[in-house]
Amino acid sequence: MTAFKPEPEHGPEPISAQHAIVLGLIHEASFPAEETWSGLAIAEQLTQPGVFGLAIDAAGFVLARVAADEAEILTLAVLPQARRHGVATRLMQACLDQAAGRGAGAMFLEVSDTNHPARALYQRLGFQRVGLRRGYYPGGGNALVLRRDLSPVAATAL
Ligand SMILES: CC(C)(COP(=O)(O)OP(=O)(O)OC[C@H]1O[C@@H](n2cnc3c(N)ncnc32)[C@H](O)[C@@H]1OP(=O)(O)O)[C@@H](O)C(=O)NCCC(=O)NCCS
Repeated sequence: MTAFKPEPEHGPEPISAQHAIVLGLIHEASFPAEETWSGLAIAEQLTQPGVFGLAIDAAGFVLARVAADEAEILTLAVLPQARRHGVATRLMQACLDQAAGRGAGAMFLEVSDTNHPARALYQRLGFQRVGLRRGYYPGGGNALVLRRDLSPVAATAL
């Protein structure tokens, strides 16, 4: 990973614990204090079975987990200065591909019902609402549960 400014030719790259400090800073800049993950917490996540992550430069990253035939997004964050350049879209598309390649048939995630940028992103990527978790977030906010099929038909619709 290099500077935070995303270069179009820099594709998503796998992340490892050695990137954790930078990823913690991106997370800190992206979420309210009570929802922030430290670099240590991210490094710990990367040791868990089925967990993988992708980053574009030091602009943004996604962490996901595959368990049996299902996958879930653990977190997604793009630096404020790097937003609206397609970084999250490219990260999510690569993540969906990897999850399908690891045998998952569906991807799930939770998103705050008040997080309109993320909801717009996920809608564009073909996610659909399948549930609601009331009081899911530390501040008491509700989470929508979204799902996207990872079948070849859904993948070609992107
Ligand atoms: C949500 C987030 C990851 C989007 O990252 P990004 O790199 O800016 O997203 P993209 O540039 O790929 O945006 C793709 C599309 O999503 C939608 N979108 C993204 N940000 C938006 C915003 N602020 N307002 C409205 N729509 C938005 C748009 O449809 C956008 O396409 P467009 O730019 O052609 O209009 C980023 O804003 C972020 O890190 N937010 C804080 C952390 C967070 O909410 N993470 C997700 C938790 S579930």
